[in-house]
Amino acid sequence: MKLSANKATLSFSNGKPNIDLPVYEGTVGPDVIDIRKLYGQSGMFTYDPGFLSTASCQSAITYIDGDKGELLYRGYPIEQLATQCDFMETCHLLLYGNLPNAKAKADFTKRVTNHTMVSEQMQFFLRGFRRDAHPMAIMTGLVGALSAFYHDSTDINNPEHRDISALRLIAKMPTLVAMAYKYSIGQPYMYPQNNLSYAGNFMRMMFATPCDDYKVNPVIERAMDRIFILHADHEQNASTSTVRLCGSSGTNPFAAIAAGVACLWGPAHGGANEACLNMLGEIQKMGGIEKVGHFMEQVKDKNSGVKLMGFGHRVYKNYDPRAKLMQETCKEVLGALGLEKDPLFKLAMALEKIALEDDYFVSRKLYPNVDFYSGIVQRAIGIPVNMFTGVFALARTVGWIAQLNEMISDPEYKIGRPRQLFTGSVKRDVLPIAKR
Ligand code: CMC
Repeated sequence: MKLSANKATLSFSNGKPNIDLPVYEGTVGPDVIDIRKLYGQSGMFTYDPGFLSTASCQSAITYIDGDKGELLYRGYPIEQLATQCDFMETCHLLLYGNLPNAKAKADFTKRVTNHTMVSEQMQFFLRGFRRDAHPMAIMTGLVGALSAFYHDSTDINNPEHRDISALRLIAKMPTLVAMAYKYSIGQPYMYPQNNLSYAGNFMRMMFATPCDDYKVNPVIERAMDRIFILHADHEQNASTSTVRLCGSSGTNPFAAIAAGVACLWGPAHGGANEACLNMLGEIQKMGGIEKVGHFMEQVKDKNSGVKLMGFGHRVYKNYDPRAKLMQETCKEVLGALGLEKDPLFKLAMALEKIALEDDYFVSRKLYPNVDFYSGIVQRAIGIPVNMFTGVFALARTVGWIAQLNEMISDPEYKIGRPRQLFTGSVKRDVLPIAKR
């Protein structure tokens, strides 16, 4: 962190002396005011629910400029990564800070693919779930359970353990997501096939059966790989911050990532692609494109509680760059599968058009986010709606681990422990039960 020549001075209206606070500069983006000593010097906390103005850490992994609609992984624009690199290169970049050359890529891919199988015992564990359990409930359980199966990589303070657990998590997530799917439809699990690409192997584990040959469709393989790249990291979002906070207690990496999976499940975060598809389905049932206007009235009515899912973002106040790339992929996939006339896609286009012109959305800078399109792509590929967030979790795993490992290696890291503004009752005495 670079100390700025600037400093911030906090003054109080009650005559308390001013406090000078150091300011640090990042390489790009807003400076930060260091308030760590504020409580010691003033006896006051800062108040920032939802972290609207609080940097919880320093990080060199991902940078977002929400006003410009820019997303960089380790300095590289997402548009270049999505069109010139694949997911394995992106994983290497996020984890180790550099794009691999051909040899480093081959070595890394080999190290990952060495770990694609899961302990055979995992399937007995999986059998404990109801067949109709939500895949994210299963994923939260399975990922947490990895710590019970891989004891030799659970010491978060040991760099070798961290590296091997990173490889294991990246390698095993597709296997676990596919197992959760196969279990839900009563089909046999397909073991991973390491001569396929990461995305191709996932498609095969999802859709092949032991009784038929399966050929990976290159358009779908590329689309899946792009979904993985676009979702791989997104700086200090809710699930990543959850992973960091959970990991800050020194818990093992599998447990910390399981916490991230649980957080991602929510509809305001990773669950948005599922919620978006469900919303399109509801509008379809109401009468389709003709009812879009009526639906939009509900969205704009604050009392209705209806939101346009797949729209809006805490950080992007401009078009989400991932949404543009996903829109391209969406067209490519629907074209390759002959689904251009898909009514849900047409409906999504109609919603997008209205929202981009409507003053409610324009004045609030609400644009489509990545989930608006990724759900349509996944549905076209044949992934069931309730599996969408599992696919997101699979892709985000590398970002979670990169951020967790960065935190553990940071000499300034401490257990996370927010403070509060207490507004409850002052101290009082318990009355005997007969007098309450
Ligand atoms: N539909 C209708 N109104 C909205 C929407 C929406 N999707 N999103 C925000 N608004 C309104 C909100 O009601 C508020 O209006 P007002 O100023 O009149 O009170 C204004 O826009 C600002 O919104 P906010 O709630 O302060 O924004 P936030 O930063 O707290 O929330 C969000 C961000 C993503 C949770 C929210 O936009 C949302 O719920 N979107 C729908 C869910 C969604 O698509 N989530 C996926 C996010 S991208 C994937 C990821 O990175 O996880």
